[in-house]
Amino acid sequence: MNAPLPAEVLKQHLIDPEICIRCNTCEETCPIKAITHDSNNYVVDPEICNGCMACVPPCPTGAIDNWRLMVRAEAYGVQEQLGWEELPGEKALPETAAAAPAGDEPDTPQPAAPATSTAPGATVPPWSAAHPYVNLYTHKTPMTATVVGNYRVTGADTESDIHHIVLDFGELPFPVLEGQSIGILPPGVDAQGRAHHARQYSLASPRDGERAGYNNLSLTVKRVTEDHAGAAAHGVCSNYLCDLAKNDKVQVIGPFGHTFLMPNHPRANLIMICTGTGSAPMRAMTERYRRRIETGENGKLLLFFGARTERELPYFGPLMKLPRDFIDINLALSREAGQPKRYVQDLIRDRAGAVRELLADRNTCIYVCGLKGMEVGVLDALRDVTVQAGQDWSILHDALRREGRLHFETY
Ligand code: A2P
Repeated sequence: MNAPLPAEVLKQHLIDPEICIRCNTCEETCPIKAITHDSNNYVVDPEICNGCMACVPPCPTGAIDNWRLMVRAEAYGVQEQLGWEELPGEKALPETAAAAPAGDEPDTPQPAAPATSTAPGATVPPWSAAHPYVNLYTHKTPMTATVVGNYRVTGADTESDIHHIVLDFGELPFPVLEGQSIGILPPGVDAQGRAHHARQYSLASPRDGERAGYNNLSLTVKRVTEDHAGAAAHGVCSNYLCDLAKNDKVQVIGPFGHTFLMPNHPRANLIMICTGTGSAPMRAMTERYRRRIETGENGKLLLFFGARTERELPYFGPLMKLPRDFIDINLALSREAGQPKRYVQDLIRDRAGAVRELLADRNTCIYVCGLKGMEVGVLDALRDVTVQAGQDWSILHDALRREGRLHFETY
């Protein structure tokens, strides 16, 4: 057991700015709002953090898991951390502070058992998921990939300019699993003259490559031309990626992610719920299943896919060519002329019977990827279909999280 820390010593929680990919997961997860960020860094407020560890398992890179023993009065403040380019080294504590106090127990916050998570999804992978590699290439040691394909996967006449981009890694190892992501370092500098941070993209291809047996992978990238409020905005990395030509070189870091992973055991079922580019991991998982269709190992695939119209639904053509007995496809179109507006959560309710049947099977894992706004709607729909059958959603929801069977990746 660790000796208690003297009261004037703080085990300060810090985020490594060189590894952090600014995905916001920690800030969303922290139950007491101890994490904040600016355009440079994500940081932990030492005045608020109680070391509960809730943010540690969900972090896709491990950047969150850094600790320094500090004299409490000299703890690094939020403003100081926001300016960091790298973590400071360990400092030796003065001998008086390093000695354990006689008498009373210290009130120093200690990293404790993970707090009950408020996150809607699991912070552990499915039990049978393959072991992922993470952080093989970092900001300091990025790798150079070559663009071998870049084409639009939405109708040319639509507003949604979504590209399928294939990157090749040549001789360098880049082992990945479906559900993982990579970081792209766009060239150039931000308004403060600092190199742009990496932007994170989910893989759209399975572990054995965009082309089976090749050392390559694919991404699904939407060109960002407006912000969430609809005001004009120029997405630094999405525009860079969508404009790449064959043979261009790209700086890549990663891979990242150790929880949003698919089960590896035979007859595992997947319920996949996505909107727009959130289809990337669903494409990767579906393709993994499609490539082993002959083995008879596959469980069921149930897909709910939301887009404005068919022509704005990435990969519409190839998706519709998949055999109906291989994947059960449900398209929720919100702006198709002459049709009522449908969201994925509406279709989950329409298909309550099929959803319930899979939910009742412990071999089923659920993946949700796409717009942040769909999180609540999807959870409500899953609750409704469960409650309608006279079951307790909170018990099922807890089991799905505990067993790594419900995963969210939203933005
Ligand atoms: P909408 O037509 O209302 O925007 P996008 O094309 O912007 O990436 O969105 C993909 C799809 O997700 C669209 O059909 C969009 O509908 C839909 N959508 C928007 N908000 C939500 C939400 N809260 N829950 C589910 N789907 C949503």
